[in-house]
Amino acid sequence: MLDLPVLDSSPSSDKKHLKLTEINYRRNTESDYTERMEALDRAFDYERDRHHVWGEPELSLLYGTPLYEQASESQKLALNHLYWATQYNQTAATEANTVLYNQVTTGVFAAMGGYDTLCKELDLETEQERHHIHAFHTIGYKTKKALLGQAGFTATIASKNKPSQTRQRTSKGTAKTQPKYVASKGQESPLPDFQDKALRFATRQIFLKEQSLYYSQYLQQLESKGEEIPAQTTGLVGQLGSRPLLKFFTLNCGSSPFLASVFYVARFMANMLLKNYEYRYFQCHRNLERQGEFIPAPVAVSYYHLLDESFHTTTSQTIAQDLYKDFAKPTAYERWVANLIIYQAQRVALSGLSASLPGIFRSDDAFILPLYRLLQSPVFNFSPSESLHWLEQSLCQEHEGFQVNLKYHDRLLTNLQQMFTDIDYLWGVNREMRLMVKGGAIAPVLEQNRKALRQFAASVSLD
Ligand SMILES: [Fe+2]
Ligand SMILES: [Fe+2]
Repeated sequence: MLDLPVLDSSPSSDKKHLKLTEINYRRNTESDYTERMEALDRAFDYERDRHHVWGEPELSLLYGTPLYEQASESQKLALNHLYWATQYNQTAATEANTVLYNQVTTGVFAAMGGYDTLCKELDLETEQERHHIHAFHTIGYKTKKALLGQAGFTATIASKNKPSQTRQRTSKGTAKTQPKYVASKGQESPLPDFQDKALRFATRQIFLKEQSLYYSQYLQQLESKGEEIPAQTTGLVGQLGSRPLLKFFTLNCGSSPFLASVFYVARFMANMLLKNYEYRYFQCHRNLERQGEFIPAPVAVSYYHLLDESFHTTTSQTIAQDLYKDFAKPTAYERWVANLIIYQAQRVALSGLSASLPGIFRSDDAFILPLYRLLQSPVFNFSPSESLHWLEQSLCQEHEGFQVNLKYHDRLLTNLQQMFTDIDYLWGVNREMRLMVKGGAIAPVLEQNRKALRQFAASVSLD
C-alpha cells in the first residue's frame, strides 16, 4: 500500500475549498468571457478606437508629469493608448508564466489524487490565458504600430559606448499563442544537462525526498523526453532570479504539494496587481454601457478579462489560503523556499513606485529607454536633448502623477496585507509586505531616477 506522507487527511467532499472550487469551475465553464475577448481580438481596428479615451485619463503613460500637462489632446490620447498596450504587454508575459506553472503544479495535484475539479479548472484557466495573451498581443501590436511606426519595435537611438545595451529590442509586439520558455533538449552543451541532473537529484532525493510520490507528471514527461527543466525569462516570474534559480523554483513547485500551493500566493499577487488598475477599465465599461455610449474595444477586452480573471483569482486565493492546509506542515526547507519565492516576487514587482506608469510599483530604470524612444517617435518628435530634458522633468521631479500612483499603491498594499494575515508560514517581511511599505516613498525614487538617468544620458549620443 502507498504511504502518503504529506497529506494529513484525504480531501473529502465536505471541505469548504473543494465546494468553492466546484462552484468556481461550473461558473467558469458556463461563462463566455473568453469567447467575447476572442471576437474583440479578431475585429480590432485601431482606426475605429483611436479618437476615444481608453478608460480614465489617469490610466496614461507619464500621467501628471509636466510633459503630460503641456501635451496636446492627441498626444494625451496616444499616452493613454500606449499605457494600455504597455500594461497588457507585461500582463501577457506574466500570463505566459501562469501557463507554464499551472501545468507544473497541476501535475502535482493530479499525482496526489482527489483534486480532479481543481485540475480541470487549472487546465481551463491555462487555455483561457492563451487566448488572453493573443488578444493583448494583437491589440498592443496594432496600437504601437499605428502610433510609433516600426520605430516602436526596433532600435532607433545612437549610442556612444554600449550598442548592445542601448540597441536592444524592448517589445516584440507580435501575436503569439505560446508562452516563451526554455525547455530545449540539452544536446548542445553537456553542462545544462549535468546541472539539471544535479538539481533534480538534490531536490528530489535529498530536500524533498518525502514528497517524491507527488513529482509533477508534467515535469516527468519533459524529463523523459530529455528536455531541460523549464525556466521562463520574461514576465513577473522571469524577473525573480537567474536562470538556475528559476529552474530551482520550477523544480520545487513541481516536487512538493506545499510548494505547488505557494506558486498561487505569487499568482494571487500578480492577479491583484493587475486588478488594481483593470478594475478602473471595468467601471469605465459599465458607465459607458449604462449611458449607451461608444465602448472602445480595449476597454471591452479589459472588462471581459477582469471577469475571466475573477475565476482565476478565486482559484489563487483558495489554494493560497486554504488548500495547503490539507497537507502536512511544511518542513523548514519548504518554508524557506516558500518565503524566498514570495520575498523575490515582492522585491521585483512591488518594492518601488513608478514616476511614469500609474499602477506600477517598480523603479523606472527599465522604462527610460522605451520612454526616450517614445519622445522621439512621431507622437512627440523631440530631439535627443529635448527628450532627455523631458525625461528629467518627468522622472526626477515631484509631480502630480506620484500622488495618483500612491493611491494605487496604498490600495494594493492594504489588500495584500489583509490576504496574508492568516498565512502562518510567511516571514514577517512577507506577511506585512514590508518591502512594499518601504517602496511607497517619493524621495528615494527621485534619487534613484536621477542616478539612472545620468547613466543613461552618458551612454547615448546627442548628435
Ligand atoms: Fe488572463
Ligand atoms: Fe489568469
